[in-house]
Amino acid sequence: MTDRRNPAARPAPVVVITGGTSGLGRALARELAARGAAVVLSGRSAQKAEEAASALGEARILGVGCDVRRAPEIDALWEAAVARFGRVDHWINNAGIGHAHRRLDDLDPEQVDAVLGTNLTGALTGARRALQGMLTQPGGGRIWLTEGLGSSRLQPAMAGIGVYGASKSAAGYAFRALAKEYRGTGVQIGFLRPGIMPTPVVLGGPATELPAATRQMAGILGDSAEDVARGFAPRILRARRNGRRLTWLTPARTASHLLTAPFRRRQPF
Ligand SMILES: NC(=O)c1ccc[n+]([C@@H]2O[C@H](COP(=O)([O-])OP(=O)(O)OC[C@H]3O[C@@H](n4cnc5c(N)ncnc54)[C@H](OP(=O)(O)O)[C@@H]3O)[C@@H](O)[C@H]2O)c1
Repeated sequence: MTDRRNPAARPAPVVVITGGTSGLGRALARELAARGAAVVLSGRSAQKAEEAASALGEARILGVGCDVRRAPEIDALWEAAVARFGRVDHWINNAGIGHAHRRLDDLDPEQVDAVLGTNLTGALTGARRALQGMLTQPGGGRIWLTEGLGSSRLQPAMAGIGVYGASKSAAGYAFRALAKEYRGTGVQIGFLRPGIMPTPVVLGGPATELPAATRQMAGILGDSAEDVARGFAPRILRARRNGRRLTWLTPARTASHLLTAPFRRRQPF
């Protein structure tokens, strides 16, 4: 039994992060581990995942190769986490890719497949595996989705980023449905909405092709993945409610970034 008066006696929460080799995922791995969690981070290449884990310098971070487009690799990721740490308390579906800022007829079908396969099918396959494991382990668990442009039902569609937006919109819908399907089971669904961060997902794709004014605004409203992770990590570990959404770029933060823009260092978009 857990001794509530002595946090040191509580077992460390175990967190699996898909897409943990860079950007938000890697920063979350660091911040969660710093708060006592055991972390399994993953990415497409086993070598890169192992290097990312060892660069973070924490014994309780394991790096595992897992391409979320391949269900057997997701199974192996779950099994590696359980073999090393005994259970999984949080599974964060964070792996994501963008695409060039282009109209549909200029995108290769392979790019369309990769974006949907990673951001949508990959997140669902991850959630499915985590559900199977969490429904049968004592204490259940929590499955998170990293949202993105397209997730908000209030956001107007943006030209040039339709496939990415569709992947995030569809994944968001599916996870909102999961929150209803699994209500009361002990497995809870959560959402991370990280705002705008200068990471490879945007810098390698859309950002470099965006109009200068849009990039300038992204620089003003953006924050580093490290800052976002520092804000999210304690809230992830504290989350209790099914359907919880952690939003970084709230109206208050947007207003503050706009007001302080002349004095604040801009993010490099
Ligand atoms: N940056 C932003 O402004 C922003 C805003 C809102 C939401 N997001 C979302 O935040 C999440 C993290 O993105 P980020 O901004 O931190 O970008 P990032 O630094 O490019 O990170 C993306 C991560 O996904 C991994 N990944 C890509 N394809 C994968 C696959 N098929 N299987 C497994 N892992 C894969 C990458 O690892 P490998 O390359 O090692 O495979 C990397 O670790 C994404 O879901 C993104 O859509 C980003």
